[in-house]
Amino acid sequence: MAWDTLAAPGVVCAPSPADTARFGVEVHRLTVGPGALRGSELVDLVESSTADVLVTRYDVARQEVPALLASTSRAVLPAGALTYWEKPVAGDAAPARTVVVPSGDLDPAAAEAAVRSVVRDSFTAYGNHYTADPLLDRDAALAGYEEWAAGSVRRGPDDVLVQLLDGEPVGVATLERADDHVEVLLAGLVPSAQGRGLYGDLLAAVEARAAAVGAGRLVISTQVQNVRVQRAWARRGLRPFAAVETVHLVRREALAAAVARG
Ligand SMILES: CC(C)(COP(=O)(O)OP(=O)(O)OC[C@H]1O[C@@H](n2cnc3c(N)ncnc32)[C@H](O)[C@@H]1OP(=O)(O)O)[C@@H](O)C(=O)NCCC(=O)NCCS
Repeated sequence: MAWDTLAAPGVVCAPSPADTARFGVEVHRLTVGPGALRGSELVDLVESSTADVLVTRYDVARQEVPALLASTSRAVLPAGALTYWEKPVAGDAAPARTVVVPSGDLDPAAAEAAVRSVVRDSFTAYGNHYTADPLLDRDAALAGYEEWAAGSVRRGPDDVLVQLLDGEPVGVATLERADDHVEVLLAGLVPSAQGRGLYGDLLAAVEARAAAVGAGRLVISTQVQNVRVQRAWARRGLRPFAAVETVHLVRREALAAAVARG
């Protein structure tokens, strides 16, 4: 999730039409940003919500929030914290062993097909927050990542990087530009290209792209249990700067029924 959205002050609750259509249950997003928080207002907001699933995010340091959420009638499903990492953009990075190009340099249909296939293969085993919730279908979650990445290619082809090894697409990174930084929203390598240090090449290309658009800072995030990618970030000089909890607030009857279905 984009850092700027999480860093915006105040409590924001909004429907997520894409998730609702994808999963067939009503999904809303609730974000508790920085600033003063009235506990009773948060509780009232949760109780009055019509959503089946409230995907809720807050800074892990806000330790008053879990008790407020647990005091509501909804079940609180821990879905994994996000860890955010950053580095100043050096501008001298360059991929060494692979070729990395903006998807806009490729034929549009080939670019979309490459991005879809790399994302599908690399994110199959990724433990995202949707997989913690038995109301939500895992395959639909993976299809959602694929759809979203394909949409990124159509909306901003130069902000999606495709990594080629011997001419074959093996890696993808989707980028979002903010005022003072470039954020990597999604990046991965197909399993056959993993364990060889090639992700470092992709990160080098991301950093070069960030330098080219004048950004001073690179931001990236993952689920905290994804220690493998954090090792790769540490190797490239990134450092952690924030941790954001994700919980799903679900109706207890719906959860019990989903668990019983298995
Ligand atoms: C993130 C991801 C690309 C990392 O893949 P990876 O293969 O572990 O990363 P690297 O390419 O940097 O390879 C590093 C590993 O290769 C090994 N390696 C072999 N040759 C190497 C070399 N020349 N240089 C560096 N590492 C090398 C290292 O031992 C290292 O393993 P270690 O961290 O256990 O020491 C991959 O796990 C992935 O696609 N995951 C799914 C998507 C995802 O989680 N994305 C992140 C959130 S958006």
